[in-house]
Amino acid sequence: MDHRMGHVPVLLQEVVDLLLPSGRRAVSFVDCTVGLGGHAEALLLADRGEGCLTGMDADADNLRLAKRRLEPFGSRVRLFEANFANIRDVLDETGSAGADGVLADLGVASTQLDDPERGFSFTADGPLDMRMDRRTRRNASDLVNELGERQLADLIFEYGQERYSRRVARAIVRARTSKPILSTKALAEIVRRAIPQARRRAGRGVDPATRTFQALRIAVNDELGALDKLLEVLPDVLNVGGRACIISFHSLEDRKVKRAFRDYAATGRAKVITPKPVTASMAEQAVNNRSRSAKLRCLERIE
Ligand SMILES: C[S@@+](CC[C@H](N)C(=O)[O-])C[C@H]1O[C@@H](n2cnc3c(N)ncnc32)[C@H](O)[C@@H]1O
Repeated sequence: MDHRMGHVPVLLQEVVDLLLPSGRRAVSFVDCTVGLGGHAEALLLADRGEGCLTGMDADADNLRLAKRRLEPFGSRVRLFEANFANIRDVLDETGSAGADGVLADLGVASTQLDDPERGFSFTADGPLDMRMDRRTRRNASDLVNELGERQLADLIFEYGQERYSRRVARAIVRARTSKPILSTKALAEIVRRAIPQARRRAGRGVDPATRTFQALRIAVNDELGALDKLLEVLPDVLNVGGRACIISFHSLEDRKVKRAFRDYAATGRAKVITPKPVTASMAEQAVNNRSRSAKLRCLERIE
């Protein structure tokens, strides 16, 4: 399959049911991570031709694919190459005060992971890049070759939750003294060799480089910083009665979403619609590996 076609949206029906519960009509949606437009298309179809959607994505390539997919909806859709950290600016540009449904399906799309040229994955060799927005100043290779050992270790520990972060950082610094680390394969090999063999065996098929790659991706794209900014303004960009769904893929994100939703509920401005996160059914997990770690939470603005 062409890597540009291969993103299967997770928890699709669950998102539609939460953002459009029976009897409710959403007039305006905001898709913060429009990706290839899978969720956006389903929401617009479910809304029986009435709703409009503002979509944004930091990745210009994905945005182009979304544009093509959402073309049949004509003027109901407006797309922006933007980071959702700036959701308020995007809404100001559309002239809308708020939205009835907001979706953020976090992380990367399969198109990005599966394209070796983007450097997100260690399964095929490619330049060590990992930028979703190619205008971002520093890519993964810059971080790996320029950060001090201590900074690297902290980053890998904090964002990758890698208990062998110090060993990995030491191995990276040692390797780069002979030549810069420029490819995904080179980095993956260095990390694999740095992880003790017992841990490699206990990893149950998970590549030992996974956590370090996750950490670098989060750092390059400031993923947690962007999420903080989105969560900060979320109730303000929702109309009263409007709902927000956030799908996260690791505990660092889910913890932030859970706390922010709980805090908004405590102020009486919003209520949590999903006391427990919604997860993918066994059937979905069987056909879409990515869905296994997905957690969906929903908040509704009540005043
Ligand atoms: C999991 S995919 C979304 C897939 C989409 N829901 C679909 O059905 O096709 C995540 C998308 O969010 C984008 N993204 C991640 N962080 C972002 C951010 N802070 N601002 C804007 N887009 C972001 C990525 O470039 C990627 O295209």
